[in-house]
Amino acid sequence: MNQPSQSKFTQPLKILIVEDNQIDRRILESMLQESSTPVSLLKTADTLAGAMELLGQHSFDAVILDLNLPDSEGKNTLTKLIGKYPQVAIVINTGAYEDEVGIHTLSYGAQDFLVKGKYTGYVLNKALHYALERKRLERELNAAYERLTETQSQLVQMEKMKVVGALASGIAHEVKNPLSAILYGVTYLCEQIKSPEQKIQVTLTNMKEAIARANNTVNDLLNFAGTTSQNSKPENLNELVEKCLSLVHHEIDKKHVKVVKKFDGGLPEVNVDRNRIEQVLVNLIFNAIQAVADGGQLELKTYCRRISEDLDSLPDLGKDKFKPGEMIVVCDVEDNGSGIQPQHIPKVFDPFFTTRREAGGVGLGLSVTKDIMENHNGVVLVENRPTQGVRARLVFHASDGAALSDQ
Ligand SMILES: Nc1ncnc2c1ncn2[C@@H]1O[C@H](COP(=O)(O)OP(=O)(O)O)[C@@H](O)[C@H]1O
Ligand SMILES: [Mg+2]
Repeated sequence: MNQPSQSKFTQPLKILIVEDNQIDRRILESMLQESSTPVSLLKTADTLAGAMELLGQHSFDAVILDLNLPDSEGKNTLTKLIGKYPQVAIVINTGAYEDEVGIHTLSYGAQDFLVKGKYTGYVLNKALHYALERKRLERELNAAYERLTETQSQLVQMEKMKVVGALASGIAHEVKNPLSAILYGVTYLCEQIKSPEQKIQVTLTNMKEAIARANNTVNDLLNFAGTTSQNSKPENLNELVEKCLSLVHHEIDKKHVKVVKKFDGGLPEVNVDRNRIEQVLVNLIFNAIQAVADGGQLELKTYCRRISEDLDSLPDLGKDKFKPGEMIVVCDVEDNGSGIQPQHIPKVFDPFFTTRREAGGVGLGLSVTKDIMENHNGVVLVENRPTQGVRARLVFHASDGAALSDQ
């Protein structure tokens, strides 16, 4: 009879035998030692607890498992082992009278089974071979399934976004008009009511602020849905950053935030829609201000770079948007605030994701920012700084004229 092809086992195997019957254990050991399959590690355990301990210490490829052990019986033995170590291939070693049991174990997650007293070294070898191959296929299937689920949820998300987009202009119309009427009314009342009662003035001011917030949310929604048009011109990014700082100086002063500016004076121009990039910068600056403690620091940097031939200096940019040799203009907005919890990093660009719901956060700032940057064929990256706080980075193409004049 032909032996199963040895070449399939590219690496020597690490095998654990779990068997409380000493004779059965010895048989297995000697069969494996004489087998054509190379084995680099062979361990044995006579209890489930012992097996679990060894599985915690070594990464075995396969376990040959007797189901009835002093500390665990039948199917339980298998489910406990798989529950803790799902990556290992399992060949069940059942008693001769348990043929039925063996077959059932396959549906409980074992990859193959042997019936004691009825196998030879060749059969054992073949069972291990099949078990490993089935386990590998199972892993591939799981990975494919995960990819499928992810793609499906992305599709669902895209569909949802389409609906948001379709609703946005309708909502904007329905909400913005009443809002401006209310704002007009409140402004009028502010002027007319000269009451010494401070509470009235505070109430009116709060109402005005609430209206402004609602109005901003609707604007964000409109931008997110891409319903406002884009009007790009060559602009100096330093000027835009300065303008945005002046727009938010009130918040900066209120929180005593120290602003550090490191602008490159010879920055090439960028071809952008001024209003939209201002909105992006305000979003990032606001996020930074909200994240820092009183007296915290906000650092704004601008600089330009020529992308190296292999894009290695800026690996996160993606090769589809930026070409080697091209001139890029970068703006970093850095803070020394709370930072982002690692599990939140993949979600920060999701529409409506916010950790600041109580403080009035809507969770559209970064998704709008991403959308606007994509419309500009640019990139926004957000990550924790190694020391403390967050760095948000905007990367633009230098406008054509600028790139040429640089050469
Ligand atoms: N500079 C920052 N520091 C800490 N967390 C941040 C920063 N910028 C963004 N985040 C996180 O990303 C989330 C989403 O931000 P954003 O889209 O602007 O929505 P919002 O500001 O309304 O919460 C925030 O709720 C916060 O958890
Ligand atoms: Mg925000």
